[in-house]
Amino acid sequence: MRSLVLGGGAREHALAVAIARSPRVREVLALPGNAGIGAIARCLPGKADDVAHVVAVAKRERVDLVVVGPEAPLVAGIVDALAQAGVPAFGPSRAAAEMEGSKAFSKRFMKRHGVPTSDFEVFEGAASAEAAKAFVRSRGRPMVVKADGLAAGKGVVVAASVEETCAAIDDMLVGGAFGEAGRTIVVEERVTGLELSFHALCDGERFVPLAAARDHKRVFDGDRGPNTGGMGAFSSDELVSARLYQRIVDEVIAPTVRGLAADGRPFRGVLFAGLMLGEGGGDDAADAARPLSTLEFNVRFGDPETAVLLARLDADLVPYLDGAARGALGALAEAPPPVARDAAVAVVIAASGYPGAPRLGDPIGGLARAAAMPHVQVLHAGTALREGAIVSAGGRVLCVAARGADVDQACERAYAAVDCVELAGAVVRRDIAASARRRGGH
Ligand SMILES: Nc1ncnc2c1ncn2[C@@H]1O[C@H](COP(=O)(O)OP(=O)(O)OP(=O)(O)O)[C@@H](O)[C@H]1O
Ligand SMILES: [Mg+2]
Repeated sequence: MRSLVLGGGAREHALAVAIARSPRVREVLALPGNAGIGAIARCLPGKADDVAHVVAVAKRERVDLVVVGPEAPLVAGIVDALAQAGVPAFGPSRAAAEMEGSKAFSKRFMKRHGVPTSDFEVFEGAASAEAAKAFVRSRGRPMVVKADGLAAGKGVVVAASVEETCAAIDDMLVGGAFGEAGRTIVVEERVTGLELSFHALCDGERFVPLAAARDHKRVFDGDRGPNTGGMGAFSSDELVSARLYQRIVDEVIAPTVRGLAADGRPFRGVLFAGLMLGEGGGDDAADAARPLSTLEFNVRFGDPETAVLLARLDADLVPYLDGAARGALGALAEAPPPVARDAAVAVVIAASGYPGAPRLGDPIGGLARAAAMPHVQVLHAGTALREGAIVSAGGRVLCVAARGADVDQACERAYAAVDCVELAGAVVRRDIAASARRRGGH
């Protein structure tokens, strides 16, 4: 088959590598792709969220399966448009993508279907700002304010005081901080604990749970500095016990997939649950009682989580993507998840100045040496070809992923490869996965 990957970051590079490896795939196309993807796929010009253009390209190129990376085209209804043109696509319909496209929808959905999430209220329009602030004052503690619509990962304020919560409400509802996306807001209770994400491949009715992962959003070591698109991630079975894994599947993933189907919005694609696990645990009884709260759903693969999840994949990804897209995971949903019992770590190399105004156009050296290291994958995020040389072309430039028997080994391999890469002024966190590393380690 011929597959088209939409998007041009490290997530799409990881997907393109996994797809290109499949014996079922004859050619991989990417739109727009990047310099790394260009080494294994034919990159086509255009924007991934230009629905009409993508549909025309998919038809012209006789694509058998479109794999959608980012959320914007999904929320814009690209899968519906492709279906109308007779092109199968991996990703949810516009109606199912509302789980990410509208936080108010997703919170109300969770409440209706008994998916654990913190208590909340929804407020709409500038006129509701006073009511929203009265709600916060009545609770008497700092809360979380979320813009309803897509805001490129910036539309959430986890306030430290009641005043800060009220200020965030005014910013969004009255000040228009996020434009249309912030015209409606969710005000919810704060939860504390350990954050992790969980991905599941869904065909509308059935699903294949993958693994838990944790990303690192802040730019500097020790979780300091501003938020970014993600500076690194790791995935390992040590992240959640077998009991917690099963609880996530039974309490979050299964009721969500069932609920969306019951609501007439069957979910095909990858469901990404952002979770908060309360403190405690350690033994089976404690894990059974540990608080578990769903912070959000995304309707696409995480970036950088994809790098670590696919690194641990011990199967051909394409039958899963194709089965999910066609609503026919069948026996794949009954079999054990295709994830090895090892670990993977991904470290992002960002451009000087990231996440503010990143410097672009810098030459990148050492790529071949890094990529040749065993168990390592060098994924391109923001790169371009200039006069035959690879240069930086985005905030996050590369994502170096490594697999190992455990987090320690994966970490050592990832950083050894990172140290081969030469990029002037690169911003790199040195503590990815540190929370999971054994005492007496490094
Ligand atoms: N109820 C909550 N209590 C405490 N922290 C929260 C809560 N909700 C969200 N957060 C924090 O804010 C971050 C962003 O929230 P959320 O995941 O809902 O937003 P997002 O912008 O959709 O993120 P992403 O870009 O990961 O999709 C979370 O990763 C978490 O750290
Ligand atoms: Mg989100």
